[in-house]
Amino acid sequence: MNLIAARLNRISPSQTIAISTKARQLKAEGRDIISLSAGEPDFDTPDHIKRAAIAAIEAGETKYTDVAGTMALRKAVAAKFKRDNGIDYTPQEIIVSTGGKQVIFNAMLATVEAGDEVIIPTPCWVSYPDIVQLAEGKPVFVPCSQNNGFKLRAEDLEAAITPKTKWLMLNSPSNPTGAAYSAEDLRPICDVLLRHPDIWVFTDDIYEKLVYDGFAPATIVGVEPKLRERTVTMNGCSKAYAMTGWRIGFCGAPVQLIKAMDKLQSQSTSNTSSVSQAAALAALEGPEDAIDVMRAAYRERRDLVVAMLNEAPGITCSKPEGAFYVFPSIAGCLGKTSAGGTKIVDDEAFVTALLEEQGVAAVHGSAFIYPGYFRVSYATSTEALRDACTRIQTFCQGLR
Ligand SMILES: Cc1ncc(COP(=O)(O)O)c(C=O)c1O
Repeated sequence: MNLIAARLNRISPSQTIAISTKARQLKAEGRDIISLSAGEPDFDTPDHIKRAAIAAIEAGETKYTDVAGTMALRKAVAAKFKRDNGIDYTPQEIIVSTGGKQVIFNAMLATVEAGDEVIIPTPCWVSYPDIVQLAEGKPVFVPCSQNNGFKLRAEDLEAAITPKTKWLMLNSPSNPTGAAYSAEDLRPICDVLLRHPDIWVFTDDIYEKLVYDGFAPATIVGVEPKLRERTVTMNGCSKAYAMTGWRIGFCGAPVQLIKAMDKLQSQSTSNTSSVSQAAALAALEGPEDAIDVMRAAYRERRDLVVAMLNEAPGITCSKPEGAFYVFPSIAGCLGKTSAGGTKIVDDEAFVTALLEEQGVAAVHGSAFIYPGYFRVSYATSTEALRDACTRIQTFCQGLR
């Protein structure tokens, strides 16, 4: 009898974690490695948030809370959705989970039947297909080209819809491309969805606060309130407040679905950490100047990285609206041979040779279901970014 259940064969370990592990290994061997593979802010959690957590511990807020989160936090989340997105949710329409990831996991496990289709625009975050498959659903990938800013076109969405379509997953700003949807971008997508009343929408807005040059981010229900009754509006503290380790994600959704997610969560993790919830309350209710500082640093780094990558022969890099990633094309590098003698047959060969020959770790596009590209995370110091981009230029100049 097999020890490991067949359901585990449907998923694979995170490829972004695999490349970070390889980079760490090389570093341990004494190699000079710069990692551009991180999916988290390099900033520390702001002080007032840390202090709120310490105060909560000292005040004895160290016990179970409601599964869906403390009432104070759910009210603060509802206020956030009103303030930032113009959406009215009651605390009963909110659940707080162990990171945005658990919100996605709960929503899929609570709703997807075997064979249900989930439309995932690509490039996509690595975990979406695996979570859908764990729930026995079928990911339906819709490629979104660089020419269209890596954004989903209404006609491509329409063409992907079948009677089995249960969900559309939408991520803005996007991991891995940084592309973000404006209200104008979302309007035609909402129009398609209005014509298909059985399809639910999951919007992953976890990078919402990280947008640059005055870009106004938008989310489905904010643009089309008629879709409120079949949308999960997901967000969290991980990226905006540099709180990845605290594990706070949340969503607003119709009560029927929130109850189902609450039931599932009650039999898995129960509430997320009470101390983290106190910290999240301080994050949502507190000043946002720390975010302004991070945003300014990210924007400067984005501009530096885009400019330097576009100087590397064979690479073309668009300038995205948000997040802390860029997703350059390596079309002009494919088929060539590196200075170290590796034939660049695909994006995986590119990132492997780049790591081995120049000590720069980045993630191949195939991990995001989009070959021919690679992801650079600029959530690292300007100095390291400048060094890494110079090495990428050297690598590309060496291709023959
Ligand atoms: C697009 C996207 N959604 C969700 C998450 C998960 O966030 P959390 O750490 O809150 O679970 C990530 C983290 O990398 C992400 O990039």
